[in-house]
Amino acid sequence: MCGIIGLTAIENYLREPIGSIIRRCLKRLEYRGYDSVGYAYIDKQKLKIVVKKAKGKIDDVTRILDFKNAYSNIAIGHTRWATHGKPSNENAHPHTDCSESIAVVHNGIIQNYMELKGKLVRKGHVFKSETDTEVIPHLLEEYVKSGMKPIDALRETLKILKGAFAFAAIFTQERNKIFFAKMTSPLVLGISNKVKFLASDIPAFLEFTNRVIILRDGEFGYISPQEVYIESIDRGAINVRNRIRVISWTPQMAMKGGYPHFMLKEIHEQPLAMQRTLQSLNIKEILEAVDLIINSNKIFITACGTSYHAGLVADYALSSLLGLPSFTFIASEYLKYFKAFGDGDVGIIISQSGETIDSLIALRKMKEKGVKTIAISNVIDSAIPREADVAIYTRAGPEIGVAATKTFTTQIITLLKIILQAAKQLGEDVEKIESELNKTPKISGRVIRAHEAKCREIGRRLSDAKSAFYLSRGIGVPLSMEGALKLKEIAYIHAEAYPAGESKHGPIALVEPNFPVVFSMLLDEYRESLIGNIMEMKAREAYTVGLIPRNERQVIEHLDTYISLPNINPLIAPVIYVIPMQLIAYYAAVSRGYDPDKPRNLAKTVTVE
Ligand code: G6P
Repeated sequence: MCGIIGLTAIENYLREPIGSIIRRCLKRLEYRGYDSVGYAYIDKQKLKIVVKKAKGKIDDVTRILDFKNAYSNIAIGHTRWATHGKPSNENAHPHTDCSESIAVVHNGIIQNYMELKGKLVRKGHVFKSETDTEVIPHLLEEYVKSGMKPIDALRETLKILKGAFAFAAIFTQERNKIFFAKMTSPLVLGISNKVKFLASDIPAFLEFTNRVIILRDGEFGYISPQEVYIESIDRGAINVRNRIRVISWTPQMAMKGGYPHFMLKEIHEQPLAMQRTLQSLNIKEILEAVDLIINSNKIFITACGTSYHAGLVADYALSSLLGLPSFTFIASEYLKYFKAFGDGDVGIIISQSGETIDSLIALRKMKEKGVKTIAISNVIDSAIPREADVAIYTRAGPEIGVAATKTFTTQIITLLKIILQAAKQLGEDVEKIESELNKTPKISGRVIRAHEAKCREIGRRLSDAKSAFYLSRGIGVPLSMEGALKLKEIAYIHAEAYPAGESKHGPIALVEPNFPVVFSMLLDEYRESLIGNIMEMKAREAYTVGLIPRNERQVIEHLDTYISLPNINPLIAPVIYVIPMQLIAYYAAVSRGYDPDKPRNLAKTVTVE
């Protein structure tokens, strides 16, 4: 969904070429998109904008882009995930106006760009790309040509643009300012004394500052080395001081810390992340959420991707523990329940980034119908928690790998904490489960240490497969969905999850000798029937992998390989069982020669519908 960066520093302050800084910042945004990359800076001697861009990942085009020889105190940069126009040198950002005195980087979609482009072309503007973005510099140019200052041109441009976007622009006539605007797509400012940043996400500039302003929809303005100006379309000039927040993320959190990939680092970070989540959950917010849940008519849970799987785990816990059925749906499918949303209902929206557009739209649709909303997110002040009635943060720290890992486990922990608190208020005795939940940081650490080597072996074995099944029953089903998604998205091996009982109603037709089937066996009432399903697969010579409870002996003879996991309550098991699944997928991807941090065609934060 593209990453944008901009920085402006006082003259002679930067001790290295600005291109090198832009490159580092873009590397940290690469998870957002990586089909092309580019940057622009103002050459102060020649008083002109220099644009460098190319198709490809940053590492592959570093030489062509010549970051090391870009000297200036002001620059913008972009890493792209194509929406309008294929990945190509021409479609890469920045885009410029006709006179090349304005350059723009953009994340999001300009919905009415066709109409705008038509008008601009009729006025004589020449377009060089197929992107929607290019209308922005040309519109700005129109207004500037008519005598407006850049800030006024920006305000007028915003009145015309429709869609979800965040963009940054530099003008040769305002040599120290980077102009910006935000509507739905994320944009944050980084504030330090002599240098100011803007970026799609905080880790981009975290090495320089942890003082941030999270911009809101309809805000625009500029940064200069010593000034931040923000205006809102509806509310006029904003008091900037009140908006600065100091975040607790450290630069190390956004670095690989000796691991070959962010994903592996983030898998290993899970014990710490879980600990942080458990320690920092705010009881006041939990109680507010519980109050809404136990007094609700209906409960709706919605999310996308991995967060949706966390939602399904919560759904299972709500029904099986509290007898409170919930309607859990993929956010982009909200229409199914739109008529059912109403006053007295509660909606739980789960989003790591807090910016996924489908989830944001589902939240707005619920609110429109009077549903009270609870957001579970990892990013403070992002759109979804900001718009929800109650915001609960997982505080897992930044997650850079595209495939979600630590944010999944911490989402489940957060959701279970809420559900267990609700259970207590409803008179259930959940002390034992809660004490097990509190031990997940320790247990997960032990699981990683004990089983990583075995997971590597299984990952390597799976790397030859064309397809795999992940089967389980009960709460093991959403867990299996997450395991299958991991294998699919980073190792590019087709994988499907099914309730094990359902596998004989179709999927088993695909099973032939050596077809991998990963079973998750939990300590629940499904044990006997699951053993039956394992035997069915074995009888067809499948390659059976078991994630099984410790001391489970009977099933071993039907498994080709297995990992024996601690005996824990099934409601908590997804937090622990998913770890070997993550590791298996990671090692399968690496064995196949793929970069698990940047799976093809994916982006970490999806801000288009
Ligand atoms: C993208 C990512 C997934 C993520 C999903 C939802 O598809 O690639 O890893 O689970 O978005 O993201 P969210 O930030 O809303 O949890």
